[in-house]
Amino acid sequence: MDSIKINIKDTFGCITDTDIKSLDAAAADGLAKLHNGNGAGNDFLGWLDLPSRTPATLINEIEEVASTLRQNCEVVVAIGIGGSYLGAKAVIEALSDSFASYKNNNDTIVLFAGQNIGEDYLYELQSYLKDKKFGIIVISKSGTTTEPAIAFRLLKAQLETQVGKAEAAKRIVAITDAKRGALRQLATEEGYKTFVIDDNVGGRFSVLSPVGLLPIAVAGFDIKALMQGAVEMENSTKDHSADNITEVYAVTRNALYNAGKKIEILVNYNPKLHYFGEWWKQLYGESEGKDHKGIFPASVDNSTDLHSMGQWIQDGERTIFETVLSVENQAHEVVIPSDEANLDGLNYIAGKRVDEVNKMAELGTRIAHIDGGVPNLLITIPALKEKYLGQLIYFFEKACGISGYILDVNPFNQPGVEDYKRNMFALLAKPGYEKETEAIKSRIND
Ligand code: PA5
Repeated sequence: MDSIKINIKDTFGCITDTDIKSLDAAAADGLAKLHNGNGAGNDFLGWLDLPSRTPATLINEIEEVASTLRQNCEVVVAIGIGGSYLGAKAVIEALSDSFASYKNNNDTIVLFAGQNIGEDYLYELQSYLKDKKFGIIVISKSGTTTEPAIAFRLLKAQLETQVGKAEAAKRIVAITDAKRGALRQLATEEGYKTFVIDDNVGGRFSVLSPVGLLPIAVAGFDIKALMQGAVEMENSTKDHSADNITEVYAVTRNALYNAGKKIEILVNYNPKLHYFGEWWKQLYGESEGKDHKGIFPASVDNSTDLHSMGQWIQDGERTIFETVLSVENQAHEVVIPSDEANLDGLNYIAGKRVDEVNKMAELGTRIAHIDGGVPNLLITIPALKEKYLGQLIYFFEKACGISGYILDVNPFNQPGVEDYKRNMFALLAKPGYEKETEAIKSRIND
């Protein structure tokens, strides 16, 4: 299969084949728990066969809705946070022209809101949208999350003022639970087009559902190819074997964790993968960071961050390992020109492609980090195309489930996320939080 690949040989200065083999049974057990549905959090396993069971009719419907939004809107704002935001953002950034929003090519732009509570961010977005034909995709599984609810209230009111309530309703699509939550009720009352997030698909595992697929399709990308890549990865990672790359990744990172490597840095050498790192951090951070355990997921964009974080990675505390995402082929070719005066001294690389230089930066850094005591895993991606991103997404999701079970946590809940919400609601005196309001006020008034 034309596919992403993993190479773990550069971890062997820190761990051994025996360390890897000692986790083989735990990996087999984790994989079996996923497929048999008998592990912790087993009511959230809907993502496991999501690629293969998503009907063509749903994909076609998503494409039709996307096409209507593209015809009617210059800008579509995707409103959501966490798993209702990061997957779409990661894929769109990976596939987009880096300067698309500055080019007047009449293509619909997808912007994001509801992923923060920045007042200036919302003000500036609203003023940008004032003279734009815009639409909204509002995404919230629970339908009650505060950040997207605030953004939606503001942008819904703006859209209704700009085009009237009836036209606004045609340009709003809601993606939420089938029955529960304020967003579902609102969408029903206002008559919005809706898509359902299945009960058994958790937020951070939902990018291959309408949550990610609709914004990605609105941005103009091929969701069929994305799903095809995911199906390929689903099919090739069903059985316990030394060739199952999801098990290889899950086992290796746990062996490194057991050897004292508490931080994993996802490294890219392509600025288009910045948000892939953000998506990955949520996936692994929320899935594994519990019961006072779990690898801390971090990310860097190289070579940019070699000039900021490089020193720490090379020479700081030896508690880290790296997983490098290496993109084999670029979409475009740029050759470094020769210069007669050679005042910048760069003629020694004249005639080389920029990517050749980048690959040497990548290789040189990997060797330096390995020599400096930073074990390296290498994931190669043939190109930044929909199919390979689909493979990569499913690869990381499945490895995350196996890894969480090896770590002996429930990879599919996120109890810690509720604590900040409780305090925020108490401080804002939300009805129903009277006791908490009293308690927190007495603390801050001390
Ligand atoms: O992974 C998760 O479950 C979370 O990150 C959610 O996606 C996030 O909190 C947003 O929740 P909701 O979609 O219910 O608004």
